[in-house]
Amino acid sequence: MLHPDLDAEAMIETAYAKVNVALHVRARRDDGYHALESLFAFADHGDRLSAVATDDGAIDLFIDGPFGGALDAGPGNLVLKAARALQAYLGDQRGAAIRLTKILPVASGIGGGSADAAATLRLLARLWDVRIAAEELAGLALDLGSDVPACVASVTQMVTGRGEGLRRHPVKGLEGTAMLLVNPGVGLSTAQVFNNWDRVDRGPLDAASLDALVAQGRNDLQAPAVAAAPVIAQVLAALEGHEGLRLARMSGSGATCFALFDSDAAMADAAMAVQGAHRDWWMMETRIRTA
Ligand code: C5P
Repeated sequence: MLHPDLDAEAMIETAYAKVNVALHVRARRDDGYHALESLFAFADHGDRLSAVATDDGAIDLFIDGPFGGALDAGPGNLVLKAARALQAYLGDQRGAAIRLTKILPVASGIGGGSADAAATLRLLARLWDVRIAAEELAGLALDLGSDVPACVASVTQMVTGRGEGLRRHPVKGLEGTAMLLVNPGVGLSTAQVFNNWDRVDRGPLDAASLDALVAQGRNDLQAPAVAAAPVIAQVLAALEGHEGLRLARMSGSGATCFALFDSDAAMADAAMAVQGAHRDWWMMETRIRTA
């Protein structure tokens, strides 16, 4: 059942997919989280959110879209948690009917849940005309998940700590780049993948240039993710060797991998070849977001 007003006058927001161009795990912290150095970039595509205000204080969530069936609208849903967090911050009874169109695969390392939470904060801040300082919004975001503060801005950033250290970090030649996302249809638990990291610090991240990110950047979660889901190695192998490929790497804790190309045409050729050989893999042709 859809809220009757939802399609007519709804305010809309995109929950941009996130990729970790490189993700260096430096240490396991005493609180159980891991200290990271990661270059976050965002795709031009993602889940879609829309909302209308209600005045009874209720927050209702409707989910649709190709991956909508993989999520439930229970209290653990990050969209609902984000909406409730902002409502609690306001301390009043503004409500909303929210529709989430789930386009990104769930539990797949491209920040779907985190991006949805962040987009909900942006959307409801507009809908409810909320005045909130950036630091306070970042605090609400971090309580929802480590990647949520970076997803609030959805621009290329150097991310440190468990996700609270944010620095805008455009990289020459990265923004606007053609990017193919590929997911082989397995969902991985972020906590489990982090837990299987071998606790070897392989050194800091040099994000000074795209060349450095390609040549010296790593995703330290790739090995533990491949150990849990060997098909990730097949995805990476399928992405290698195409004309115009700059970089193929896993994002986040997997299993989605991304590939950067010199041109849209090179991406389209690679996408056709990979999809032809693996009809059941999810793929999305996009580009790195410039904002
Ligand atoms: O912060 P979030 O709830 O999204 O993280 C999910 C899980 O991933 C955490 O419970 C933790 O086990 C792991 N994690 C971590 N280090 C980080 C981020 C997440 O160990 N920097």
